[in-house]
Amino acid sequence: MNSLLISTIGCDDFAHLSMARTFHFNFFIIFILFVIVSASHHDFSIIDFDSNLFHQDYSPPSPPPPPHPPSVSCEDDLGGVGSVDTTCQIVANLNLTEDVYVEGKGNFYILPNVSVTCLVSGCEITINVTGNFSLGDNASILAGTFELAADSATFLNGSLVNTTGLAGSPPPQTSGTPLGVDGAGGGHGGRGACCLADKDKLQEDVWGGDAYSWSSLQKPWSYGSKGGTTSREVDYGGGGGGRIKLEIVRFLEVKGSLLADGGDGGAKGGGGSGGSIFVKACKMTGSVRISACGGNGFSGGGGGRVSVDVFSRHDDPKIFVHGGRSAGCPENSGAAGTFYDAVSRSLTVSNHNMSTYTDTLLMEFPHQPLMTNVYVQNHAKAAVPLLWSSVQGLFSVRGNSELGRTVAGENKDKAVETHAPKVREGRRG
Ligand SMILES: *[C@@H]1O[C@H](CO)[C@@H](O)[C@H](O)[C@H]1NC(C)=O
Ligand SMILES: *[C@@H]1O[C@H](CO)[C@@H](O)[C@H](O)[C@H]1NC(C)=O
Ligand SMILES: *[C@@H]1O[C@H](CO)[C@@H](O)[C@H](O)[C@H]1NC(C)=O
Ligand SMILES: *[C@@H]1O[C@H](CO)[C@@H](O)[C@H](O)[C@H]1NC(C)=O
Ligand SMILES: *[C@@H]1O[C@H](CO)[C@@H](O)[C@H](O)[C@H]1NC(C)=O
Ligand SMILES: *[C@@H]1O[C@H](CO)[C@@H](O)[C@H](O)[C@H]1NC(C)=O
Ligand SMILES: *[C@@H]1O[C@H](CO)[C@@H](O)[C@H](O)[C@H]1NC(C)=O
Ligand SMILES: *[C@@H]1O[C@H](CO)[C@@H](O)[C@H](O)[C@H]1NC(C)=O
Repeated sequence: MNSLLISTIGCDDFAHLSMARTFHFNFFIIFILFVIVSASHHDFSIIDFDSNLFHQDYSPPSPPPPPHPPSVSCEDDLGGVGSVDTTCQIVANLNLTEDVYVEGKGNFYILPNVSVTCLVSGCEITINVTGNFSLGDNASILAGTFELAADSATFLNGSLVNTTGLAGSPPPQTSGTPLGVDGAGGGHGGRGACCLADKDKLQEDVWGGDAYSWSSLQKPWSYGSKGGTTSREVDYGGGGGGRIKLEIVRFLEVKGSLLADGGDGGAKGGGGSGGSIFVKACKMTGSVRISACGGNGFSGGGGGRVSVDVFSRHDDPKIFVHGGRSAGCPENSGAAGTFYDAVSRSLTVSNHNMSTYTDTLLMEFPHQPLMTNVYVQNHAKAAVPLLWSSVQGLFSVRGNSELGRTVAGENKDKAVETHAPKVREGRRG
């Protein structure tokens, strides 16, 4: 039975295996922090916390998406050739001004050099076909959201999906956009930086936009947030990063770039926070660049959230979720966002060696254990809730990174003051 399973293994089989494994691990409520310190001279242990008053993510679960509108037609609405139930080819640039939903039983091809754009914040382009999708060489899609469901998909050389700075509204009741006129960065996967600290506060106790949507870490689908401004009259904040979701039944080949970065705020505005990218496929090839980083600005935006759920990955995708640069305080970039690998169930928080005093908050898991490994690296600064004391796993902090504890929540300043400094490692020299 076992050998049969192995000899015929494919994505469907894997789904069963993975379910069995998840079930097996279910009794670990979250995980015990087992800290491996590889880049530091200080050993530390984060067992035995004194409190578990840790609350939910800031954002409620998103409501179910509204039903889809009817599909547009290939020729009449998109100026293409063919039909969405056979093969639709987009042969000339398309400049859209509103959301587009494409559904069909055929293939959908965007030919080389063709650009499909909808440069309205939050504009959604959804392609849902039972056949294949391709984005040709040097072709591009620019919009707030790009969502694709297809059997197999190829994104050829030089192709680009760019949702940078084109976010729609972040989830309700989140505070990713900082208040006031500090020109702070937007938050999402990590907090935005804030360069203007009161004299009596340490830089590391001050930040811009808050983090949110931790609960959708595995399947991120929130927009990034706008950065703040330094002016009462003009909003200089960079736009939030958009959203990209690829749900591919079989093969995904990506040689281009998938971008959901925060927009830049320039000298007078905070960078927007990175958006969300979720990629699911059975098999993925190609050296794709996946980026949901914070935008640069007077203060940098926080990184967004990326999750990859691919059973068989052949080339190493380049994945970036770092914070944006802060022109007003270069040593304090936006905080790193989160990268979750659903197959190895590991979370990586990397700030790509951009130094920061600003935290990435790692929160609790409401439903089930999701991680075996957590890596905090390359100058990221992470804070974990006290609740993480009673669980099990591998926790690695390296590359000038830092880990603090917090009882995150409404009273953020106090929480960090009181609890954070006890566990620290690898401080900047
Ligand atoms: C696309 O349409 C918008 C609004 O109709 C217009 O402002 C913009 O110039 C157009 N862009 C291109 C590249 O045609
Ligand atoms: C795409 O554009 C490039 C440069 O603009 C040109 O060299 C190339 O021939 C074009 N390719 C196609 C397939 O039209
Ligand atoms: C694609 O279409 C199917 C059938 O209508 C629907 O069940 C599914 O939710 C759609 N997926 C997306 C991503 O729109
Ligand atoms: C879709 O792509 C897959 C993998 O490249 C291929 O096997 C299949 O024949 C394609 N289907 C169609 C309808 O072109
Ligand atoms: C894509 O663009 C590059 C650089 O502009 C060009 O060298 C290449 O020929 C283009 N590819 C195609 C297929 O047009
Ligand atoms: C894609 O680009 C790479 C290097 O940029 C080149 O080696 C390869 O031949 C290109 N492939 C195609 C199909 O143009
Ligand atoms: C993506 O879009 C942003 C915002 O329009 C732009 O600044 C950036 O250059 C684009 N990226 C690429 C690779 O074209
Ligand atoms: C970060 O710095 C470390 C050590 O200096 C180096 O090994 C690593 O390649 C750097 N990573 C990046 C992404 O720059």
